[in-house]
Amino acid sequence: MIDRHPDNSGRTDAAASTLMNGAPATSERHSLTAGANGPTMLHDVTFVETMAHFDRERVPERVVHAKGAGAFGEFECTADVSAYTKAALFRKGVTTPMFARFSTVAGEQGSPDTWRDPRGFALKFYTSEGNYDLVGNNTPIFFIRDAMRFPHFIHSQKRRGATGLRDHHMQWDFWTSSPESAHQVTYLMGMRGIPKTYRHMNGYGSHTYMWVNEAGERFWVKYAFISDQGVEGLTDAEAEKLAGSQPDAHRADLYEAIERGEFPSWTLYVQVIPYEDAKNYKINIFDVTKTVPLADYPRIEVGRMTLNRIPDNFFAEVEQAAFAPSNLVPGIGLSPDKMLLGRVFSYADTQRHRIGANYQQLPVNAARVPVNTYQQDGPMAYTHNDDQCVHAPNTTGRGYADAPASAEETWGLDDPELVRDWQPIQSDMDDDFTQAGILVRDVMSDAERDEFVATVARHLLAGVHGDVLERAFEYWKNVDAETGQRIEDAVRAGGDA
Ligand code: HEM
Repeated sequence: MIDRHPDNSGRTDAAASTLMNGAPATSERHSLTAGANGPTMLHDVTFVETMAHFDRERVPERVVHAKGAGAFGEFECTADVSAYTKAALFRKGVTTPMFARFSTVAGEQGSPDTWRDPRGFALKFYTSEGNYDLVGNNTPIFFIRDAMRFPHFIHSQKRRGATGLRDHHMQWDFWTSSPESAHQVTYLMGMRGIPKTYRHMNGYGSHTYMWVNEAGERFWVKYAFISDQGVEGLTDAEAEKLAGSQPDAHRADLYEAIERGEFPSWTLYVQVIPYEDAKNYKINIFDVTKTVPLADYPRIEVGRMTLNRIPDNFFAEVEQAAFAPSNLVPGIGLSPDKMLLGRVFSYADTQRHRIGANYQQLPVNAARVPVNTYQQDGPMAYTHNDDQCVHAPNTTGRGYADAPASAEETWGLDDPELVRDWQPIQSDMDDDFTQAGILVRDVMSDAERDEFVATVARHLLAGVHGDVLERAFEYWKNVDAETGQRIEDAVRAGGDA
């Protein structure tokens, strides 16, 4: 359980309210006016403070993943994975406090929880070596493989410039122009496209990450948090009903389950890929549009995360929570995945803008270990270094880091051949459509495939036209000829599959 921060306990006793300086407020109900119908007085400090603070209540919502819900809990490492990583949180028997936030991607703060969209699965581990964040999704793959495309992708999924309306035509224009999206779009339109609740979905690191053991040996890993509640989805009809009647259904479900004492949990597994294998494996493991087959690299169990406490305050602890792939700890590194590397810049950058330069001082984001940083001052600085030396190097005895490049950060520098171009294709498993085709043909049941065809047809009928529609038929025929033809037939028949 997280300790309550000593500075967030406002006065909540039955005594009358105060101003923010702690002095008694005058009235929360009536402003001070010159006569009963007269003008309001500027020296009514309670009125002015209330209005002025209200005017500043919002911070910008997240540019993506704006709607979500969070909960605190713990992660217990139950297996000995010391052969692969020296990270303290992955030492057998260690329990680490954590915070999780689940979200939709494209909708704004008030949008329904049940729109068809990937779900964010963001985890912050308050480890004994500093905070480690794993910012993943409920899908093991993503739409694109180069961070350069992310702003364009998100623009196409959000709203049009002039009307502020979402636009299926624009979405499919982007997807069909970016064939690497096929695997993720297939996943999204399929049975896992709308989870029943946040508790009934898995979480994936999606990218390939690196683990480093005590001896400095490096391994590639892929994380999967498998839901102990099982994986269940909603049909379009069920989801649309909830979107109208209970737009916060998933947030409410998470909080109500925890309050009932039904603590949701997930078992963490990893696929460990020997470092050298990346060079010659049939699939580029640094391409986030691909999964790495379990038959080649089976999952091994690592531990379990359990969520057991709802936040005390949504704004302080969920809205101001800041997860970032750049929050790493010793024993865990990145990989030469171009998407991941773009993300490493983007998150902390947006958080400095969204919350402020000192967002890591807020209790939900603060490390539970001593911080000895030379970053200083800035808006709302709360923790500080007294009168310690402000520069490094120094001769005053204040410590500073000066280590050589570590194993965690040197992939690609000492092994430049690991950084593959996307062309030419490595093997017939490494193109844009093969894995999407496997999902449609081999993973979906007949009934699920029927539902999938109907779902895609509904999307295409919601305003996709002309060349983009023709390209969409082609896109699905590339995934699977028969399914693509069925989608085309359904759309030409006006939706009757
Ligand atoms: C280059 C690609 C990407 C970029 C530039 C990007 C950027 C962002 C940004 C700017 C935010 C808002 C952060 C905040 O305001 O605190 C965000 C949130 C998020 N992103 Fe990404 N993203 C990318 C790809 C991905 C991928 C591939 C995943 C999953 C595997 C992912 C998962 C998330 C999640 C879960 C959140 C919400 C975190 C929270 O709950 O606060 N993103 N992303």
